[in-house]
Formats: sequence, C-alpha cells, structure tokens
Amino acid sequence: MQNAIQVKGLQKSYKQLHVLKGVDLEVERGSIFALLGSNGSGKTTIVEILTTLLKQDGGKATVNGFDVALKPDNVRQSISLTGQFAAIDEILTGRENLVMIARLRHLSNSSQVANDLLQRFGLTDAADRKASTYSGGMRRRLDIAMSLVGGSPLIFLDEPTTGLDPEARIEVWKMVKELAANGTTVFLTTQYLDEAEQLADRIAILHEGRIIVSGALAELKKLFPSAKIEYIEKQPTLEEIFLAIIGKKEKN
Ligand SMILES: Nc1ncnc2c1ncn2[C@@H]1O[C@H](COP(=O)(O)OP(=O)(O)OP(=O)(O)O)[C@@H](O)[C@H]1O
Ligand SMILES: [Mg+2]
Repeated sequence: MQNAIQVKGLQKSYKQLHVLKGVDLEVERGSIFALLGSNGSGKTTIVEILTTLLKQDGGKATVNGFDVALKPDNVRQSISLTGQFAAIDEILTGRENLVMIARLRHLSNSSQVANDLLQRFGLTDAADRKASTYSGGMRRRLDIAMSLVGGSPLIFLDEPTTGLDPEARIEVWKMVKELAANGTTVFLTTQYLDEAEQLADRIAILHEGRIIVSGALAELKKLFPSAKIEYIEKQPTLEEIFLAIIGKKEKN
C-alpha cells in the first residue's frame, strides 16, 4: 500500500538561509512518525510544506497520494494540523470552539461531534468554561481535539507537548497512542528525544538541512558506538544516540 507521506529531495530557503537542503522521508500509513531536530532545524518548515501552508523551492512531496504542489486542495481535505501555536479562540468555551470548527467543516451533527471529543479528551467538566481559563495541558488537548473534528486519517502535530508539565505531556502521549491505535497516521515534530522514544514507530533526525538518520528506535540504537555502551553499562538513550551521531557527522 502507498505511504501516507512520501518526500524526496525537499528544498526550501528563506532568502539567503538554506533551511532544507534535500530532505527525504517516508511515513507508513497508520504509524507514528517523529521528526526530531533542534530549534531552527526546519521542522515547522517541513510541516508547513506538507500541509500546503508553504511552497517548497524544490523536490517532491506527496501526502495521502496527492502532490502538495499540484493538488493542495486534495491534500488539505485529507489531513488535519495542530500547529506549534494554539489555534484556540480564548473568548469561546471549549465546547463552542469545537462546535465552531464542526460547523466550518459543514458537519450536520456539530453538537454531537463536540460532545464526543470533549468526552474523549477529558474536557467534559470544563466544556462550558472559557478557554482562557484552561491550563496549558487542557488547551493543548482542546487544540488537538479541534484538529480531529471531521476525522482525518492523517494528523500533523507540531511540537505537541512543548511547554507542558510532565503530567500534561503524559496525557498528550496517551492520546497520540490512542489515535494511532485507531488507525490514524501521526506525523509529529519534537525537540524531546524521550518523546520520540515513547511514541514513535519511526524516528528521523533533521540536522543541517537533511535527515541524517532515520529508522525504528531499535535500529538507531545499533548506530550507537558499542564501546560507549560498555562504558555506560546500559542501553543508550536516544539523546546519547543523537549526540553521538551529530558529533560524528561534524567531524566528517
Ligand atoms: N518566514 C520566515 N522567514 C525567514 N526565516 C524563517 C521563516 N520561517 C522560519 N525561518 C527560519 O528558518 C529556520 C527553520 O525554522 P523552523 O521554524 O522550520 O524551525 P523549527 O525546527 O520548527 O524550530 P523550533 O524548534 O524552534 O520550532 C530558522 O532559522 C528560522 O529562523
Ligand atoms: Mg517549529
């Protein structure tokens, strides 16, 4: 079966700044894919190209079988996006935010859709409070719930847990796992190695404009120098792998 996302040789510059220098990646349907990279490495740029908010300068990307440059409307109809910065209307209640999106998506049963999502995201008790009174974790959950209105088969989450406390992060992780268990493909970006380690079926590390390594966690662990494993006498963490790979690349 065709991949949910297929990217080949993706390039993007902002004026002189060459951010993406030929990014290749593939995301299998129904999997959780984590794009890992430090601040400014270009994660949001990739998400914006794949969700048609931004045009690439070169290379090819298909999402759900549609070319992002040639068929942006089809791409948009087949995905949902939770951006890095929340899309919640603070003046509205949680319920009103969800109903608004359901109506924008022309769903006939908007209040039922809102109720179901409130329930699923543990927001029923807070449903009729203004979103401005929500905690960071509640906001994030509402933001993700909003992007699920309409039931897209592929969801993009750009740094879903940045700024959340540990408890709220774990809640979001649980929710992401549930989504995937129900067959949704999840493309997430993160700066947190433990997040990728917790959630992802496959991990790709973006560094200096390219994917420098990708694979399942077990495959990435094999890349870690074995001498170091003996030295620390435990399984390497993804963070150690990341630092080892980057260190190695910089010496080349
Ligand atoms: N509209 C823009 N104009 C000029 N430069 C930009 C623009 N958007 C992003 N950049 C630059 O491109 C680089 C990549 O940015 P991007 O937002 O994709 O990184 P990121 O990996 O998402 O970072 P973060 O982890 O901080 O969210 C950064 O150096 C950023 O300053
Ligand atoms: Mg970003």
